[in-house]
Amino acid sequence: MSVFGPDIVDKARQIIARYPESRSALLPMLHLVQSVQGYVSRAGIEFCAAQLDLATAEVSAVATFYTMYKRRPCGEHLVSVCTNTMCAMLGGDEIFAKLREHLGTPKKPLANEDTAGRPGEPGSVTIEHAECLAACDFGPVLQVNYEFYDNQTPESAVALVDALRRGEKPAPTRGAPLTDWRTVSLELAGFYPEDEDVFRSQVDGPSAAGETLRGAQLAQDRGWTAPTMPDDAPLPSVDKTGAK
Ligand code: FES
Repeated sequence: MSVFGPDIVDKARQIIARYPESRSALLPMLHLVQSVQGYVSRAGIEFCAAQLDLATAEVSAVATFYTMYKRRPCGEHLVSVCTNTMCAMLGGDEIFAKLREHLGTPKKPLANEDTAGRPGEPGSVTIEHAECLAACDFGPVLQVNYEFYDNQTPESAVALVDALRRGEKPAPTRGAPLTDWRTVSLELAGFYPEDEDVFRSQVDGPSAAGETLRGAQLAQDRGWTAPTMPDDAPLPSVDKTGAK
């Protein structure tokens, strides 16, 4: 019997109906199968291929290209630590190393995308390093199931994963309340809690903070404005090599 029951087949049909071509539905379909098993399994790839009339090789090519699709089972929570340039300079590498050490054993720190605990069970945590999460002004940052925790230190990151391991869901710095990896995967497939009004009111948390708005505020306070573009400004020319 397929792990993808009638309710998932029904959701797959709803996703496919959003697009003029069924193959365009592949990305949300991969999130959908990920919401069932916590990763994109071989069975998930075959399910997507059958629903979308694609070859399994085509589905597999997409599933292995994007890092948001996991090929190994994830924990209840996915912890993504930004180790890109700005966060790395501010301590992101130390945070990632500390979490690997803390969640692993003294002899064997966790590797990237390894899980502490049994995948899918309450309190299990998968860690990964992430490229820039577009929150450099709050660095170093990490995300749990794509919700932000800003201005982290190795100590605060350890306290956060310890809380997750105990089954707690500490409030993110901004955005929606914390759920879990499979629920977020379902939301990324386009399916939200039944009471959408409640869901939207939760998501309407603070999304910008003083650090992000500081430049615009300074310009406003000082009366700075951007020069207007003349209507007849020539478009930049491009030569055959692509150089401007
Ligand atoms: S470098 Fe970490 S959010 Fe940009």
